[in-house]
Amino acid sequence: MRVLILAAGLGKRMKSKYPKVIHPILGKPMINWVIDTAKNFGETAVVLGHGAEYIKDVIQDDIKTFYQEKQLGTAHAVMCAYDFIDPDDNFLILYGDVPFITIETLKSLEKTHVKGNKDVTILTAILDNPRGYGRILRGEKIRIVEDKDATDEIAKIREINTGIYVFNGRFLIENIKKIKNNNAQKEYYLTDILLFANNIGTVTVEDTFEISGINNRVQLAYVEKEIRKRINEKLMLEGVRIIDPENTYIDVSVKIGKDTVVYPMTFIEGDTTIGEDCVIGPMTRIKDSTIGNNVKIIRSEVEKSVIDNNVSVGPFSRLREGTHLSLNVKIGNFVETKKTFVGNNSKAQHLSYLGDTTIGNNVNIGAGTITCNYDGRKKHPTFIADNAFIGSNSSLVAPVRIGANSIVGAGSVITRDVPDNALALGRARQINKEGWVKHKREDNKNANSEK
Ligand code: UD1
Ligand code: CA
Repeated sequence: MRVLILAAGLGKRMKSKYPKVIHPILGKPMINWVIDTAKNFGETAVVLGHGAEYIKDVIQDDIKTFYQEKQLGTAHAVMCAYDFIDPDDNFLILYGDVPFITIETLKSLEKTHVKGNKDVTILTAILDNPRGYGRILRGEKIRIVEDKDATDEIAKIREINTGIYVFNGRFLIENIKKIKNNNAQKEYYLTDILLFANNIGTVTVEDTFEISGINNRVQLAYVEKEIRKRINEKLMLEGVRIIDPENTYIDVSVKIGKDTVVYPMTFIEGDTTIGEDCVIGPMTRIKDSTIGNNVKIIRSEVEKSVIDNNVSVGPFSRLREGTHLSLNVKIGNFVETKKTFVGNNSKAQHLSYLGDTTIGNNVNIGAGTITCNYDGRKKHPTFIADNAFIGSNSSLVAPVRIGANSIVGAGSVITRDVPDNALALGRARQINKEGWVKHKREDNKNANSEK
């Protein structure tokens, strides 16, 4: 069936410059939650109005869009996509601000619709507090009365219209234009189409969380908390150990392997994949990165990086974009990397900056080593070949190459390439002035006694 998502409203109560439906939930814009579900059913289109350009920026290119200049009601919104309705296909209506509707619920809605050959099948819900919603009146024929048009008696009805329906395409085409706006809000109500329907189905959603609408930032925070809990529970049921799910923040797009342990106050975001048997956190943030198996990342930041198997990182390190750590690499504390490749078994255990650097296998980067990659105008590369040993507190002034098996003496400032198998020393030679301190003290004493 075809799917139309209504998303022209502004969402005034968000108090935002941006349209409501682009606000992210677990890293994914609200509307993309709906689109990803919709795509399971067929060709999908969105009706846009407020902030259409912002929304177009976040949705995939294969999604059709229609424009509703003035928000004159839900029927008017559907009219804006009139050409998208196929008379020979069913037509599902969803809302951009009702993001958690599940495929299962929509399948059961479709099934009831198809089986009964209905004109329209409505998804309803039973709520303790039905305020704000259209109420379902089950008389001889089902009707929906909007909250603002409801009498006190009708307002008490707890069965509500979720606003999600499957229509027979032909029925919709033939009747949508007949809807008038003679009601409390002077809006074209899609619900009024029931007047023209003879065969109306209903399905009642079991888990009312699915139809949670989001109108302000308080609701946004609470539904996000709930959906976060569900995502964490799903990961745990798939074999991930999460020590404290209430304090672990994992985006919906993240994949994590079995027997990986995630410690609290950890944020795993964006397009991130983590393998098996890893230890992640506490207090770690990983974004848009690919992590292998048996990797430890403790109290560190990792962004747009690739980490192979058996690597350990942290505590207190920062891997920036374009970092690639190969097998068995050890990155210790207070190490920053950027656009840097580190070969198998190499180590940088303490206090380093490695930028625009290519490091071979079995290299040891001593404490305090800095690649001076920036000359104030341009960035330059550093190459450190296999088995090199960089002494502590060295500055490698790029562009520069340190040869294989060579050693850089501690405290060196290296400005020229070092050949293979060499010892490079780039520092002042030490002088010891013997007895200097004693003589100095005696001089001072004599000077004072002459006063
Ligand atoms: C509608 C239903 C109501 C139902 C409720 C569920 C009608 C007349 N009423 O209420 O029975 O209980 O949804 O949430 O349909 N939109 C547009 N263009 C418009 C108007 C709305 O795109 O001109 C979009 C909004 O952006 C939103 C959705 O449609 O995503 C629902 O609009 P909203 O105003 O929240 O719903 P109501 O009309 O109040
Ligand atoms: Ca509403």
